[in-house]
Amino acid sequence: MNDLPRPLTLRDFKIYKGYLSADEQHAILTDVRTIVRDVPLFQPQTPYGKPMSVQMTSAGKYGWYADRSGYSYRKAHPNGSNWPDIPDSILKIWQTVGPKHRQPECCLINYYSENAKMGLHQDRDEADFQWPVVSISLGDDALFRIGNQSRGGSTESIWLKSGDVVVMEGDARLTYHGVDRIRFGSSQLLHNGGRINLTLRVVE
Ligand code: SIN
Ligand code: MN
Repeated sequence: MNDLPRPLTLRDFKIYKGYLSADEQHAILTDVRTIVRDVPLFQPQTPYGKPMSVQMTSAGKYGWYADRSGYSYRKAHPNGSNWPDIPDSILKIWQTVGPKHRQPECCLINYYSENAKMGLHQDRDEADFQWPVVSISLGDDALFRIGNQSRGGSTESIWLKSGDVVVMEGDARLTYHGVDRIRFGSSQLLHNGGRINLTLRVVE
């Protein structure tokens, strides 16, 4: 993770394939396990009353989740705990691929079990879209779909693998994206299979 490799770009998404070494992935996973002990993964309800298929929790000043009142950033887990700090193992990725003069305030942790997916959506609950969203993939492969800046139109997909890092900024920042499915058991990183996606966001 020393020299910044040239990313592949797909619809202005910068995709750093194989960005994290196996050791770096294991170190991040250890830190994620510590976070999840304090603020356990939970399955959020959407405002429409349907549960999301991913389970989530967060680190940082803010966590993001949905419930019957809507999607928003909040200062506490549903159990009342403050979110733990974002670990250095994760922050250092932002410091390399993201802006140097602004730190993320949220690390959203999404866990995809065998049948989890995420519909096409924009990330737009943040105050200022000049800052990127940085996404880190760990565990099983995910079929990531990229659309357009408004709903509908053609889409393109790419498999994200463990250790890949995606930067959404500029014209990609408000582009619709989602995960159609994961290839369960395709990675050995998580002993019970599944995928973890971390997204770093500036909230304020
Ligand atoms: C997200 O859009 O929040 C998650 C994307 C992913 O899981 O790769
Ligand atoms: Mn998103």
